[in-house]
Amino acid sequence: MTDVVTGAAGFIGAHLASRLLADGHDVIGIDCFTDYYDPARKRSNVEKLLVHPRFRLVELDLAEEDVREHVSGAACVYHLAAQPGVRGSWGPGFAPYVRNNIVATQRLLETIRDSGARIVFASSSSVYGEAEEGLTTEDRIPRPVSPYGVTKLCSEQLVMAYRRAAGIDARCVRYFTVYGPRQRPDMAFSRFVEAARRGVAVDLYGDGEQTRDFTYVADAVDATIRAGLVDEPGEAIFNVGGGSTASVRGVLSILERIFGQPMKVREMPPQAGDVRHTGADLARARRVLDWRPTVSLEDGLRAQVEAAGERNVK
Ligand code: NAD
Ligand code: UGA
Repeated sequence: MTDVVTGAAGFIGAHLASRLLADGHDVIGIDCFTDYYDPARKRSNVEKLLVHPRFRLVELDLAEEDVREHVSGAACVYHLAAQPGVRGSWGPGFAPYVRNNIVATQRLLETIRDSGARIVFASSSSVYGEAEEGLTTEDRIPRPVSPYGVTKLCSEQLVMAYRRAAGIDARCVRYFTVYGPRQRPDMAFSRFVEAARRGVAVDLYGDGEQTRDFTYVADAVDATIRAGLVDEPGEAIFNVGGGSTASVRGVLSILERIFGQPMKVREMPPQAGDVRHTGADLARARRVLDWRPTVSLEDGLRAQVEAAGERNVK
């Protein structure tokens, strides 16, 4: 079975491609190595895949180039390519969000409409916006509070429109703050681990009491593959969360335990678009995908810290 993974050189996409290969699938990875963060990191992610005989890399920009020949014959297209990151999406930073999230997704959907492949779209908890304490179900009306969240909701809605009106077999997984080895360098845990290793202060945005449903990358990948394999799921949108929430200060305490030293903190103002709380109701993913997260925050953080010690590119 051949699957396509877009964004295969990125953080989650590289883990996903690697797991699909291990499960016996052939994988075509598509990526254009955007410079949102150092493309050398993405090259390093892909190096681990290129040694595999059933992996093929196609360097191609989904917002501009034709992807038809690579998608035709694929069983499932896992669409993870995007411009991620909540805080950089304001002001002049917005243009790549429109291009890589909305335009690229629409062009891919037009191709899939002809090829008949299934698509699993990587959506985001950021589509919800401010949530109440407790758990958010997929039926909550989305009210994003960042331009990034708006583009992820727009691309998710495009996927759903092609599903309703063009008959595409589509599923969306709404990831909640994913972490683990090779996490993007702009994300909190990457920055905290790097600061701890260098003995410098972390930037703490706001009071640090904001909470997240942090999700270990292998759990997110497992849910994604189950969403790709399940036949006639009935539902199309699935929350993918870590199974418990923690505050940012709580995370710093765990890191103090792991590193055996106090974390230095530089207090910074709250960031626009940074929601107070996320919490994934996982009942639907449990029922339809037979999936539940398995990795605790402390175990997952330890794995990320260990992997950061081995990394040789910045
Ligand atoms: P990432 O930036 O590491 O990976 C995305 C990849 O897509 C990059 O390698 C980039 O080069 C590629 N890409 C971007 N635009 C492209 C284009 N036009 N053509 C071809 N390739 C392109 O990000 P990630 O953290 O791995 O996120 C993967 C997906 O999951 C994204 O869709 C993101 O919105 C979503 N998501 C991530 C998280 C998280 O916590 N990391 C949470 C929710 C949703
Ligand atoms: C993350 C991803 O970056 C988005 O791409 C994704 O769509 C989103 O999750 C999601 O769940 O949908 P975010 O929750 O902001 O967004 O993830 P982090 O960058 O890891 O930040 C987590 C928390 O730590 C935020 O409250 C942030 O303000 C805080 N933080 C981050 C700091 O206090 N200091 C930092 O240096 C970085």
